[in-house]
Amino acid sequence: MLRTDQIEAAKERFGQLLEEQLRRVDEMKSQGDFIDYKSLDQIIVGVCGGDGIGPAITAQAQRVLEYLLEDEVRAGKVVFRNIEGLTIERRAAENAAIPPAVLEEIKKCHVILKGPTTTPRKGDPWPNVESANVAMRKELDLFANVRPVRIPEQGIDWTFYRENTEGAYAVGSKGVNVTEDLGVDFTVVTNQGCERIIRAAFEFAKANNKTRVTAVTKANIIKVTDGKFLDIFYKIAKEYPNISADDWYIDIMTAKLVDEKRRKDFQVVVLPNLYGDIITDEAAEFQGGVGTAGSANIGKRYGMFEAIHGSAPRMVKEGRDKYADPCSMIRAGAMLLAHIGYTKEADKLYKALDICTVTEKKLVITGRDSGATSEEFANYLMETIARL
Ligand code: IPM
Ligand code: MG
Repeated sequence: MLRTDQIEAAKERFGQLLEEQLRRVDEMKSQGDFIDYKSLDQIIVGVCGGDGIGPAITAQAQRVLEYLLEDEVRAGKVVFRNIEGLTIERRAAENAAIPPAVLEEIKKCHVILKGPTTTPRKGDPWPNVESANVAMRKELDLFANVRPVRIPEQGIDWTFYRENTEGAYAVGSKGVNVTEDLGVDFTVVTNQGCERIIRAAFEFAKANNKTRVTAVTKANIIKVTDGKFLDIFYKIAKEYPNISADDWYIDIMTAKLVDEKRRKDFQVVVLPNLYGDIITDEAAEFQGGVGTAGSANIGKRYGMFEAIHGSAPRMVKEGRDKYADPCSMIRAGAMLLAHIGYTKEADKLYKALDICTVTEKKLVITGRDSGATSEEFANYLMETIARL
């Protein structure tokens, strides 16, 4: 192909992407307010086990939630609905990030508890389908990815508000190979997208008596998109005079998180998608690794709650899935409870988790037969809840 033709083809592709993104802006502009779970007669919790160790640990999280919500489930106020088919085999067979029939079922729910799903990468036996997490975040417009990290004994209490639908992820799988030598990816930012995540972070800070919100960007280099994020951050910060606002660049921020003297001071951190992805893994590591962290993906209509780690196919291959640590999914479940208004039950669960994993620790999960199974751990947790 002639070079001019190659450039024209790339421009056409770029044009399509812009159309798509402007449609998204229109949708965001026409969006209503957050759903009020209290006003619903019935809350439907969809459960997708996912891949690898996903089904095993998700089942244990579901058991614990059903235990905590026993009365609500009996009264039909809360319904748990198992949704089959969000598996890499089915996604590969249908060549879809989320098979359409599965998505339809998911959309009939209010909130989703989702196990880890396999994201194919180059060299894998699977077709290159888009990540199911990323697709679900986009399909359900789950713009706020909330990831708490708490280590009380070190004075750490961080809540990350990661933007979840834009940035490098918006058209992450739609970059253009302009020629054989030249590849271009895109990062996308919108006023509406920045405003809603930044406002969510400040509102969280206000509701939880936090005194500081920190933005993280690389606006000195990525001037248009990160620059916009930062401008909007300081504009919105003016509406919250009692909360101090500051910003750091992502490189020095990753360093500050390991600075024991300074890191205690961070409280709420709001950041574009990719930086949020990276730094929340680092942050979770201080708490005991990504296996311990849960994550809430929140939009105005839907919420999806998941682990932040992958599906660990090796554990399954070695027959160790029943020894997988279910704490990440159980923590995701605690966030789900709080999100739909069951804060007392969520607090109980956090308390029991603290007893079972820090103070009492009668059972230990090692990921192997040297430790407890996920089921034994969930039993221990429920016994502990009963004692509270
Ligand atoms: C996460 C994960 C996902 C992401 C992957 C699995 C697509 O790393 O939830 O942080 O990049 O967002
Ligand atoms: Mg990640």
